[in-house]
Parts: sequence; structure tokens; C-alpha cells
Amino acid sequence: MYVCVCKAVSDKTIRQKVGEGLGSMRGLKQCLGVGSQCGKCIQTAQHVLNQSLQQLMDEQRIPCQFISERPAA
Ligand code: FES
Repeated sequence: MYVCVCKAVSDKTIRQKVGEGLGSMRGLKQCLGVGSQCGKCIQTAQHVLNQSLQQLMDEQRIPCQFISERPAA
């Protein structure tokens, strides 16, 4: 599903980028433009980001300190 309609970014793309090392909303915004226009996607993008990070942590692929990123303002 599309998370960010303005930039045509899907949950799959976000999960892929998290798997490649992105760990924050700031990173998603810089890399994909998520939340850079109308901003309506920020909550959903943050949710997908958190889920993806949690999944990686559950798989013990990342240290847990990356989970505590705050959403971009
Ligand atoms: S839906 Fe993401 S910036 Fe508009």
C-alpha cells in the first residue's frame, strides 16, 4: 500500500530502506521524501518504520538503540 501518496512511497519501499540501514523519519524524508509535502503520511510512515525496526530487532539484526528515534517535526 502507498504510505506517502505525494511521493508514491509504499510500505514495502520503507521496509526495504530500513533493511538497508535507514532508521529514522529524518532518513526516510531525506532519502524518499516521505512527509516532505502535505505531511499527512507522517504517522503511518512512523508506524511502518517502527514495525520494521522492531522486526529487525526481533531477528537480532540491529541493536535496540535504533528503535528510539523520534518522528521528524
Ligand atoms: S502523503 Fe506524504 S507528504 Fe503528502
